[in-house]
Amino acid sequence: MRVWLIGAYGIVSTTAMVGAKALEKNLIDKTGLVSELPCFSKLSEYVPLKFEFGGHDIRPLPTAYDAALEHWEMNRHFDRPILDAVADDLKRIKACKGTALNCGEGIKELGKLETLEDEGLTLKEIVERIEKDMKSFADDETVVINVASTEPLPNYNEEYHGSLEGFETMIDEDKKEYASASMLYAYAALKLGLPYANFTPSPGSSIPALKELAEKKGVPHTGNDGKTGETLVKTTLAPMFAYRNLKILGWMSYNILGDFDGKVLSHRENKESKVISKDRVLEKMLGYSPYSITEIEYFPSLVDNKTAFDFIHFEGFLGTRMKFYFIWDGIDAIVAAPLILDIARFLLFAKKKGISGVVKEMGFFFKSPMETNIVNTHQQFEILKKWFAELAEG
Ligand SMILES: NC(=O)c1ccc[n+]([C@@H]2O[C@H](COP(=O)([O-])OP(=O)(O)OC[C@H]3O[C@@H](n4cnc5c(N)ncnc54)[C@H](O)[C@@H]3O)[C@@H](O)[C@H]2O)c1
Repeated sequence: MRVWLIGAYGIVSTTAMVGAKALEKNLIDKTGLVSELPCFSKLSEYVPLKFEFGGHDIRPLPTAYDAALEHWEMNRHFDRPILDAVADDLKRIKACKGTALNCGEGIKELGKLETLEDEGLTLKEIVERIEKDMKSFADDETVVINVASTEPLPNYNEEYHGSLEGFETMIDEDKKEYASASMLYAYAALKLGLPYANFTPSPGSSIPALKELAEKKGVPHTGNDGKTGETLVKTTLAPMFAYRNLKILGWMSYNILGDFDGKVLSHRENKESKVISKDRVLEKMLGYSPYSITEIEYFPSLVDNKTAFDFIHFEGFLGTRMKFYFIWDGIDAIVAAPLILDIARFLLFAKKKGISGVVKEMGFFFKSPMETNIVNTHQQFEILKKWFAELAEG
């Protein structure tokens, strides 16, 4: 299958590419891939574990290899011989110039940027360029995944975002202040009939106009914001308190990370959507809102080694108060990259099974799953398994 990555030169994207190519060469095992669990064994009949990559980025690097090397030199997040063994494959992957419309101040931290809007293009011309790039790569087995830097909250406008007609009017009238890069990528993908997944908290295909487009075109899409680390633990652990009828009084989550993602998120407007995405899970899971602190702070020397401190204050029998603490010390790209491959495979499977619109059964992979309030990891996993088994049987 083919995967078009928005943010192709990021650490999550390049780690997914390295992993996919290393798997193809039998250099690594399948640890970390959900889609390779025995309960999904039939998936390989529909979507083999073999990937070609393309994508958009706004950093003018020559190839995905140069990006992967840059990330590797900062993080050394896997053994160097693996990178060397896939170097030629990554040197063949060159990202097309993307748009960074309304992506906020944070992206200036990424260094030298080149964007389509620098060329003075209108919204219509930007969309045409994105479509042309995707079309030149895509076949019937291609999906698009947004793994670009997190955008600020959108300037939501019912007139332009509430319906497909309004969205297309926004493009025709060149109302740039209401568009964001992730919406334009999602629009182009869905218009071309390409399934789309949003690994970020950016709006992407989640505005009503683009949900309408996906239905109209009969295309599956899913998101938002990959659930990979602290939120994965939180949504796996919190149900325990609920099952035992223990009352959570307060939950503090304090995340520190470095790297490009950390730099971009150190800007308040870029961070806002991520904090909301992380923060809402407790209320959705418990049915009440305990006192909650969710912080994300930039900590340069950690690079991609995200560390999260969680403190939970809870009440048990006889009103007695107790505390629980955990520390998550994960390598962000290593927990995220296999999910990119999993999401791509399940989404193509959905397309092959004729599914269109939001695939809420893929909520297992996301912090803010679209069109469902089920964020309990255990429930989400059962839903994914059942959905897959029923479709695979059919
Ligand atoms: N565990 C995880 O790593 C994890 C979990 C959930 C979500 N995410 C999200 O995934 C995204 C990628 O994370 P990362 O660590 O790879 O970040 P990164 O900074 O390494 O990579 C982002 C890439 O996107 C590019 N980019 C930025 N804006 C763009 C645009 N408008 N169009 C095209 N390219 C653009 C950048 O140049 C960069 O190469 C972030 O939004 C992050 O919040 C990551």
